[in-house]
Amino acid sequence: MEEIRKSPDTVLVVFGASGDLARRKVLPALQAARATGQVRGPVAVLGVGRSDLDDDRFCGLLASDPLTAGLAEDSGWVRLAYSDGAAYQRLGERLEGAAQVVFYLATPPEVFSGIVAGLAAAGLNHRGDDTRRVVVEKPLGRDLLSSRELNLALGRAFDETQIYRIDHYLAKDTVQNVLAFRFSNPLFESGWNRNLVQSVQVTAAEEEGIGSRAGYYDTAGAVRDMVQNHVLQLLALVAMEPPTTFDARDIRKAKLELLRAVQPIDPQSAVRGQYRGYLDEPGVSPGSRRETFAAAAIRVENWRWDGVPFFIRTGKALRRRSTQVVIRFRDSPALRLEGVRQRPIPTLLQLRIQPHEGITLRIGAKRPGTRFEMVPAGLDLEYQGLAGAPLPDAYEHVLAEVLAGVHTVFPSGEEIDRSWEIVGDLISAWEASGHPELYGQGSWGPEGSQELVARLGGARWLNPEDNLGGVGGG
Ligand code: BG6
Repeated sequence: MEEIRKSPDTVLVVFGASGDLARRKVLPALQAARATGQVRGPVAVLGVGRSDLDDDRFCGLLASDPLTAGLAEDSGWVRLAYSDGAAYQRLGERLEGAAQVVFYLATPPEVFSGIVAGLAAAGLNHRGDDTRRVVVEKPLGRDLLSSRELNLALGRAFDETQIYRIDHYLAKDTVQNVLAFRFSNPLFESGWNRNLVQSVQVTAAEEEGIGSRAGYYDTAGAVRDMVQNHVLQLLALVAMEPPTTFDARDIRKAKLELLRAVQPIDPQSAVRGQYRGYLDEPGVSPGSRRETFAAAAIRVENWRWDGVPFFIRTGKALRRRSTQVVIRFRDSPALRLEGVRQRPIPTLLQLRIQPHEGITLRIGAKRPGTRFEMVPAGLDLEYQGLAGAPLPDAYEHVLAEVLAGVHTVFPSGEEIDRSWEIVGDLISAWEASGHPELYGQGSWGPEGSQELVARLGGARWLNPEDNLGGVGGG
């Protein structure tokens, strides 16, 4: 720890460093990112929190877990109450001489504003100076108002260029590959619009239930937990216009433009579900009406997508873990043979975000040995291991990008506000009345979700186990 006081190069100041998020995700990711070379050079860790720890005890804590042991040597602890302005001076003393400081707020969101104000009051924010950065993680508000308040609080202390808001989906390699795929394959991009696309489906399904997270989840639900952030960000990358450059500023601009074209979700075009047994999960309030599944048809009102329905769904305790985007292209005219119409095989492009990361193009082909009987055939690209490189972990990528000062995988405050606008009516309507439709654990969600898609022009949901004619259907 003496090193931090002497000549630290980069210091990662982790608020709430003895808590669950920091010890399970943030600190192991830092250790791993250093091991894989994503983060180069020494990074000292300064834990900050209310726990009664000191340098030695915090080092001991890190050393006791193999996932963080490698960080122990270069670490220290500053004990402070987040609202105690004077204490931030002490933190400042520990940071003297540091060339680069990242403040990572791994705390409950209620204390974000207090911490940011404390940093500013002690002059630790260095407004406008990119060598001081702040990282926050969801929940970034629970509605438009609280999201705006948080953005204002951050903006009072830091410039936008110093702020990093985590959406770990954006940091998934396959999510970034959506952009690379779209904009480096003109064959697809030229038909990536209402002329050739019939509908788009985005699925973010999880096999696990809520586990021990009722305290958070039962006040949030699927829309706040997944749709407002991960699902809308993924949809934005799928549907946005080509950015002028691939620099963060242009990518964020293109996403924001797209999100502005996304219409607030109409509760009439959405379905909520709750898995059977949710009410028995420890910590869930009796009779809770919280949704563990949400599906919706989304309208994107711009030139490119007018009239093309985007269906989204996400949920817990579903058949299997699968995040995928399926683009369904318009059907070809039916082939006629000896007076009989052959039903066309829909052309589908499946972008598998996880697991079995890759891309399948499902096309129609003639069944060998028949005249013109059509069968689905798949062209597959296995992304995992492409070029011999393993897929980097999203959290490691997040940390590497923060330390490198690159914003590409971080949504802007405006995008986050706009996403709250998109889900606001839906959340209010669902909180005001009604009950989610129950669905069995291990199913694909409530019946209503299938009906929604059929009613609004998407035929049916495509599940990962459906035969797409290739590995994607495995
Ligand atoms: C988190 C949600 O943001 O994302 C969790 O709070 C969810 O409820 C998780 O399980 C899913 O992330 P991943 O990377 O496992 O798909």
